[in-house]
Amino acid sequence: MREVNLLDSYPRVKRPIEKIARSTEENRAISRQFGFEYFDGDRKYGYGGYYYDGRWKAVARRMRDYYKLTDSDAVLDVGCAKGFLLHDLKELIPGLQVAGVDIAEYAIANVIEDMKPFCKVANATILPFPDKSFDLVISINTVHNLKRDDCKQAIQEMERVGRKYKYLQVDSWFNEKQQENLMNWYLTGFTFMSVADWPEFFTECGYTGDYYWTITE
Ligand SMILES: C[S@@+](CC[C@H](N)C(=O)[O-])C[C@H]1O[C@@H](n2cnc3c(N)ncnc32)[C@H](O)[C@@H]1O
Repeated sequence: MREVNLLDSYPRVKRPIEKIARSTEENRAISRQFGFEYFDGDRKYGYGGYYYDGRWKAVARRMRDYYKLTDSDAVLDVGCAKGFLLHDLKELIPGLQVAGVDIAEYAIANVIEDMKPFCKVANATILPFPDKSFDLVISINTVHNLKRDDCKQAIQEMERVGRKYKYLQVDSWFNEKQQENLMNWYLTGFTFMSVADWPEFFTECGYTGDYYWTITE
């Protein structure tokens, strides 16, 4: 297990916490459906428009270089949404075998065109793949959306279907201010831990992959 930030090239979008008081029970109920409102509706429900703009390209390059991915490797993205990262990985490494799962029917129905054959609806807690199917299993900002027991199961599933590398990124905080920011901003999360506590939880799950944090500044 290594703490490594593979999204360091991803543009940091300042979350407009002061401007949008959005973390209300009402908003969360809508966001947690992971439908149109969450991806492409108003910002108070989620992304405020989840479009392809090439911002995952640098992340794909970083992952290729870090894990030395080649045409003979297979990659799974758990919580792939519209498949943008997979698209960029495949563009970079055309022979790469890719797969994506997401619980959101809306996202899967709107997966970027060339990734449609490789993405499907599934719950992270029961990945529809045999043991050791993938050289790299990625999950970015997804498993903290599950309640603690399911979150554990999802991490164990990543471990089960992976045969080499895993990369997990979750919402977290280094200090109280960041914790407060996250609590004022989150919509869909259920499992919250500091950067000191997550690694202990990963170990409890039997996780052996890499990990990093999404911090709400
Ligand atoms: C914050 S988005 C992250 C999407 C993408 N990984 C990214 O970083 O842009 C969270 C994603 O997790 C998906 N998700 C939530 N619960 C899930 C579950 N139990 N199984 C699979 N996907 C889930 C949502 O539908 C959504 O696409």
